[in-house]
Amino acid sequence: MDRRLRWGVLGAARIAVQKVVPAMQRGRFSRVVALASRDRARGEEAARALGIERVHGSYEELLADPEVDAVYNPLPNHLHVPWSIRALEAGKHVLCEKPVGLSPAEVEELLRARDRTGRQVQEAFMVRAHPQWLGVRERVRAGRIGPLRAVAGFFSYFNEDPGNVRNVPQYGGGGLYDIGCYPITIARYLFEAEPVRVAGVLDLDPRFGTDRLASGVLEFSAGHAVFTCSTQAVPYQRVQVLGTRGRIEVEIPFNAPPDRPCHVFVDDGSDLAGANAEVVTFEACDQYTLQGDLFSQAILEGRPVPLPIEDALAQSRVIAAVFRSAESGRWEALRRD
Ligand SMILES: NC(=O)c1ccc[n+]([C@@H]2O[C@H](COP(=O)([O-])OP(=O)(O)OC[C@H]3O[C@@H](n4cnc5c(N)ncnc54)[C@H](OP(=O)(O)O)[C@@H]3O)[C@@H](O)[C@H]2O)c1
Repeated sequence: MDRRLRWGVLGAARIAVQKVVPAMQRGRFSRVVALASRDRARGEEAARALGIERVHGSYEELLADPEVDAVYNPLPNHLHVPWSIRALEAGKHVLCEKPVGLSPAEVEELLRARDRTGRQVQEAFMVRAHPQWLGVRERVRAGRIGPLRAVAGFFSYFNEDPGNVRNVPQYGGGGLYDIGCYPITIARYLFEAEPVRVAGVLDLDPRFGTDRLASGVLEFSAGHAVFTCSTQAVPYQRVQVLGTRGRIEVEIPFNAPPDRPCHVFVDDGSDLAGANAEVVTFEACDQYTLQGDLFSQAILEGRPVPLPIEDALAQSRVIAAVFRSAESGRWEALRRD
């Protein structure tokens, strides 16, 4: 008997068709059996290309499909919480793309729907499933670089397409929601704490009204995290992790390639050019496959999913505080709303 969890996909999103669905289909515990699209022909084309057996012409139809156990939600950001709640209420478990909600209040609604329905929901931060980040945290915990003092992250690409969901403010567009969320979740993951206060600054694109450059400082009781992200800069991503006796540099922190090994450099600072750094190699793996399988396995075995929605709520409070600080020009403490 095929014991894999049966997945349905809401919308033929680029991320779903190009990366997540093919990766989940290579998993041991996940089977993508249905896809829904507002445009049935587009849905059928995507399903044919991905070998998905069933196509639905509406999201409602997919949620009513009795042979779907769990739903992957890659809709635009403003539709994450509304359709994830509808999926939970239809008896489906949900893996929803990041950022899971546009405000802490939205994420709290999702958390209540989880408790009301008894179904599980998780924010799809695939990086948290990648062995390189498990390896970095293990080394920080083991004191390999001394007490952690700072995390610095960059993430950027160039996209000026007015039709792209990232450049539409009503859809929850902008860099902070789209890619700023990554250095924030990684800093929280490594400090294993929430920041006590944050400062943020945004540069808005006058055409779109979305942030095209965003920077933030997160003050943790044990140290600082700083990040800059941009939707209109050279494609780049890197994370530096600084301790009192060493540092760790993560070469491709967020879009780790599925087809080649990843490198992390552990350096004691004895040579400023990093010539003495130890190169730690993580064998090639697909973080989307891992994410899907860890979620599916947890459901199949009746365990909590790897990333509780409480983590997404804490994450959304940090993002909300960065937006508030950019508005007020002051440091902002985290707030529940
Ligand atoms: N984790 C990651 O690595 C990663 C990477 C990229 C994106 N993402 C996340 O994935 C989500 C989708 O990003 P994407 O670049 O894949 O977007 P996209 O290609 O624009 O896909 C969005 C899909 O949502 C559906 N949709 C429903 N209402 C819509 C509306 N009003 N406007 C536009 N589309 C609508 C459409 O599907 P149908 O027309 O077929 O119904 C569309 O294909 C975002 O939340 C983003 O943050 C995550």
